Amino acid sequence: MSFIVIANWKCNPLNSREANQIFNSLNKGLKNYLHKNSILEAAVCPPFVYLQEFKLQNSLFKLGGQDCFWEKQGAFTGEISGEMLKNLGCQYVILGHSERRIYLKETDEIINKKLKIALKIGLIPILCVGENQIERKKNITKDVLKKQLKRCLKGIQNLSGNKIQNFLFIAYEPIWAIKGFGGKAATIDDARQGILFIREILSKIFTKKAAKKIKILYGGSVTSKNASEFVHQTGGQGLLVGSASLNPKEFIKIIKAI
Ligand code: PGA
Repeated sequence: MSFIVIANWKCNPLNSREANQIFNSLNKGLKNYLHKNSILEAAVCPPFVYLQEFKLQNSLFKLGGQDCFWEKQGAFTGEISGEMLKNLGCQYVILGHSERRIYLKETDEIINKKLKIALKIGLIPILCVGENQIERKKNITKDVLKKQLKRCLKGIQNLSGNKIQNFLFIAYEPIWAIKGFGGKAATIDDARQGILFIREILSKIFTKKAAKKIKILYGGSVTSKNASEFVHQTGGQGLLVGSASLNPKEFIKIIKAI
């Protein structure tokens, strides 16, 4: 089984000088490490405006977008399409992140449309799901995850054949654990239970065999101290890292901890 660590830079940093500094430090710090490590893949999802510069560098990191629109092109002011991301060298796209669900009111139906276009054009979507604090307190985490997965993945089976495991990643990100929401990381047990349940639902949507192989990542306040446990003790296959991925020293430590 191989692992993946994805950096989600969110709306940071403020200019391309800083973005390049971080990107260069990461490449320099992991040069020998990632080359030698055949079971570990790493990707950076910066704001769209830095992708072109990063594409031109001979980087060890794969690239991804933080979102994409559901149409290829046209009169959609402000939107960036999956096709554009592909042309910028992206292999991945984060979809359904809780910050987009909350601040931009993205629904499961919208995310479903974005997922379909991403899969169709060969971008690997990293579909984020997770419950908020109130839902957790009400003990309805499983209902929330099930609903999100079923709605976001509606109609995907027809689209993807039986190779879905190669084309779709899921990130379990309990909203209460995300730094931007004042979070503190989930316990290993919380993450394990979430990941286990997600796999159970996936096995009902796809085949059991495919569901077993779909990579499920954990995200939410990951640091170099908890990274290894979140990967090796939860049944997951990787991490989606926000704030800590903007600090090159810390992010390098996270990658090396796996
Ligand atoms: P965080 O964010 O690591 O800053 O908590 C993770 C995410 O939102 O993807």
